[in-house]
Amino acid sequence: MFPWIEAFNARVASLSFFPIIASIHKRHGQKLLSLVCLLPLLGSVAEGLMGQLGARPWFRAMGEMGEIALAMLIACLAITPLVQAFDWKFLYPWRRTFGLFAFFYAILHVLARAMDLGLDLGAIMEGMFTNPFLLTGFLAFLVMVPLAVTSTKKMMATLGGKRWRLLHKLTYVAAILAIAHALMAGKAGYINFLPQAVILAILLLWRLVYPTLRKAMQKPQG
Ligand code: HEM
Repeated sequence: MFPWIEAFNARVASLSFFPIIASIHKRHGQKLLSLVCLLPLLGSVAEGLMGQLGARPWFRAMGEMGEIALAMLIACLAITPLVQAFDWKFLYPWRRTFGLFAFFYAILHVLARAMDLGLDLGAIMEGMFTNPFLLTGFLAFLVMVPLAVTSTKKMMATLGGKRWRLLHKLTYVAAILAIAHALMAGKAGYINFLPQAVILAILLLWRLVYPTLRKAMQKPQG
């Protein structure tokens, strides 16, 4: 870790109100984060109830849920690099919360699409395996299923840490597929989701260079 980051962390830890924040985070952090993650859904429901979702409310809701699912997936992937770069270990439990909410919003995204298509199975499945846009979305969703199923401590113990970690590298595959899907969405997908694509590329790059960076920083001086 860089010395200035160590100094920054020490400075924050020495603040008078830090123990209070740390204690609130320890006792209620997960619940508070879950509440924050639910806010976009509450926002969409409120919009829907007030009739602000336009002429095709389910289509609008589908777009909103897809965007949040992608954002949660990226947030989940950002945790490990943030811990590695800043030593903010308190963020680790957030990874699972963001990951599970990404899956939750992906389910809502798929359900909203089914509602938009009047629950017509033929229309829902049309192009699913032939249209690259739909196929990437479908595959992203499929990859997220084993990740969500194995997210519990019990499953981690059953699989063993090494296999579990290997399996959860699939989060990157899910995110790459989801970003490809989003970039192909609508007419302006390429423009709208470019920032998310850049963030994902940076996170991937970080994971690739971090082992080398760490080794270089651990080398004895002189
Ligand atoms: C079976 C799986 C999926 C299907 C059938 C599906 C289908 C769709 C459809 C029809 C759209 C609207 C395209 C348009 O605006 O014309 C869309 C947009 C989108 N989807 Fe999916 N999707 C799936 C999975 C996913 C997953 C897993 C994610 C993210 C984790 C995701 C993220 C998005 C995003 C970000 C958009 C763009 C929303 C916007 O334009 O505001 N999708 N998807």
